[in-house]
Amino acid sequence: MSLHLGRTQFGNPANTGNVLTYDQADELFHAWVLNPKLKIHMQQVACLMKCWAAEKEMLDEAGQWKWEMAGLLHDADWDQWPDLHCKKIIEELEQRNIDPEIIRAIASHGHLHFGVEPETNMDKMLYAFDELSGLIHAYSLMRPGGYIDMDVKGVKKRLKEKSFAANVSRDDINDACERAGIQLEELIAFIIPRQSAVTATLQN
Ligand SMILES: [Fe+2]
Ligand SMILES: [Fe+2]
Repeated sequence: MSLHLGRTQFGNPANTGNVLTYDQADELFHAWVLNPKLKIHMQQVACLMKCWAAEKEMLDEAGQWKWEMAGLLHDADWDQWPDLHCKKIIEELEQRNIDPEIIRAIASHGHLHFGVEPETNMDKMLYAFDELSGLIHAYSLMRPGGYIDMDVKGVKKRLKEKSFAANVSRDDINDACERAGIQLEELIAFIIPRQSAVTATLQN
């Protein structure tokens, strides 16, 4: 079964700047995503996107929310409609006249699956965070202290163990770092403390 979207243009440029409110995005998130593990993954990626937008892209709050929204909704249809991933969420956001930049980032988060190349910084970072965030979370779950004292070296070790979180594509992670022009170590070091902090709030 192919998830190829068969197109590379998304949304309408006239909708640039249109976003969901936080409450609207939250409502869609909870209505479509029922699996608690997937919810955590999407919230973690949302946080990383927001942090990157604020700290590295120096975007204002509106800009940060666009990045966060892309992270929060990137797997929205994966839980209930895996055969339609990520066609369904794209169409939903297009119907709601959402900013094409956000829709494009979602459409390119798995370029081998969807046939859409990551082009913008938002595209590239969503792609880069997606798999690595999942592997780091899996690592936290096998550590007695969770995220406490987790370091880059430990994560790199797990990356080298092919059997660990075997569904996480190492090729995608390396490819994503190359495209984003980031060292793997730098990306891991960015993720650990931020993902640790947001995960603590999600589990409380
Ligand atoms: Fe996905
Ligand atoms: Fe994901």
